[in-house]
Amino acid sequence: MTRKGGTLGNVPKIAVIGAGNVGATLAMRIAESGLAEVVLLDVYKSLAQGKALDIFDSSGMNHSLRPIQGTDDFSSISGSSIVVITAGLARTPGMAREELALKNAVIVKAISSEIRLRAPDSVIIVVTNPLDTMTYLAYKTSAFPRAKVLGMAGVLDESRFKALIASELNVETNDIETVIMGGHGDTMVPVLSHTRVKKALLMELLPEKKIDELIIRIRGRGAEIVSLLGSGSAYYSPSLAAFRMAEAIVYDRKEVITASVFLNGEYGLRDICAGVPVKLGRSGIEEIVEIKLTDRERSLFMESARVIRQGNAKL
Ligand code: LAC
Repeated sequence: MTRKGGTLGNVPKIAVIGAGNVGATLAMRIAESGLAEVVLLDVYKSLAQGKALDIFDSSGMNHSLRPIQGTDDFSSISGSSIVVITAGLARTPGMAREELALKNAVIVKAISSEIRLRAPDSVIIVVTNPLDTMTYLAYKTSAFPRAKVLGMAGVLDESRFKALIASELNVETNDIETVIMGGHGDTMVPVLSHTRVKKALLMELLPEKKIDELIIRIRGRGAEIVSLLGSGSAYYSPSLAAFRMAEAIVYDRKEVITASVFLNGEYGLRDICAGVPVKLGRSGIEEIVEIKLTDRERSLFMESARVIRQGNAKL
């Protein structure tokens, strides 16, 4: 395929594993933005090839489009600076993310072994659910340094929260800061002591009952979308969330964003992956940021960790 935007040597490469809705949309975002060249890999080779060709065809209209290749061959991921794992089953209506664990574990394990072998210097971003358990599995299987394995959840959940707050208060999402820690599931913890709109605490702007309502809505947002779609799960905003993480890494932004990472004593937790704020740069996690939590937030975070551990133990 034609190469644009310089030679292969100076353009970073990102591999996206899984050419389903999240993977293909992410691949499109990466290629279209010019962030990196893309290898889109799927066990169904023709699916990856078909979607890659379709994305490539935009190059006649978009001169900054990066090369994209569809394949089922893991040797193509070598040299990738980032590998995003999106492969796996998505929920069906009425299903909890945790119910996917056993089936997706087999897939994530096999992919992580390939990454270990073929792209040993990459940063892994896990998108497959149940997110925190799959991130833990990718960390253990790849045997990568913990700075190089991240799960995508906080960026998405925070975006959902910001979107609802912005419509509620009629403000721009840019004016909102928030952090959502813990598991990517019903126990996620919106940290209200760090949730501000134009510097004012959300708790001072909305009644507690209203905030609780918004929290229930973001906790259930993934399931709400699954039930509306009928088949498959959300992908436009999940793919953008993974894209944002990839950008922070490629551009070495050293930006603090929330991701599921392996904890080794931070927040008093060990041997678990859970969502916490981290500083992201070219080498992956540069720092795990320990923000101050209220006693109540801390205990909700511990409860969320307990639920993640239960899920990990089932594997
Ligand atoms: C969701 C999936 C990505 O929250 O977990 O929509």
